[in-house]
Amino acid sequence: MNLSWMMLSCSAAGAAETPEDDGTVALPAADRVGGMTVEQALDRRRSVRAYAAGSLSLQEVGQLAWAAQGVTDRESGYRAAPSAGATFPIEIDVLVHGVEPLADGIYRYLPDTHALRRRSVGDYRPAAYETTFDQSMVRDAPVVMVISSIVTRTEQRFGELAGHLVDIEVGHVAQNVYLQAEALGLGTVAIAAFREEAMAAALELRDGERPLYLLPVGRLR
Ligand SMILES: Cc1cc2nc3c(=O)[nH]c(=O)nc-3n(C[C@H](O)[C@H](O)[C@H](O)COP(=O)(O)O)c2cc1C
Repeated sequence: MNLSWMMLSCSAAGAAETPEDDGTVALPAADRVGGMTVEQALDRRRSVRAYAAGSLSLQEVGQLAWAAQGVTDRESGYRAAPSAGATFPIEIDVLVHGVEPLADGIYRYLPDTHALRRRSVGDYRPAAYETTFDQSMVRDAPVVMVISSIVTRTEQRFGELAGHLVDIEVGHVAQNVYLQAEALGLGTVAIAAFREEAMAAALELRDGERPLYLLPVGRLR
């Protein structure tokens, strides 16, 4: 079975655009076909904690973000990962280092437009690393994806069950990233061991945004 089973429509690959004045960067169109079967990705997936030299391309960063939270049905707005009641409590930030043509910094993925919005310039990896009990891959990977939640979105519909639902949902998102990384020939590992409040502060998250998972991504050795 090819991964194309989950693709709902095809669009031509677009060229990367340079950052706009407002800090929004259009991402190249996501590849909705790929070259690896879902079974191969499942079979080969491993947690990878050390990476070869070299950063990722903007296409690769966009593809990983699309796998995490990309809109796969324009009409409904539904995404690559399932969401309890389609309340979409998940936000994706990406800490990038050496990804052309982006300035190093922290970027928020915008699912509706498949774009990145620059939140802040600078290398945020060392500050994030400091909160992770010495998990050096957070400092050394060229790209670190941060999965955060805004539980109030789900609470409006599910009340006190929301926290439980969001904790489940984040697993779907992370697994998508694992499988997409594998299909791209990249390596990642899901990291939950960090000091949550310190991480939120290091990443300048807003009140109500809770960091749940980090996924450093790099090239395989
Ligand atoms: C909820 C959860 C939290 C995890 N947190 C960490 C972590 O903080 N650091 C780490 O190196 N690996 C972490 N992992 C990855 C596991 O160590 C890894 O999945 C396990 O060793 C099995 O290896 P595999 O993923 O290659 O199959 C986590 C995995 C899960 C599911």
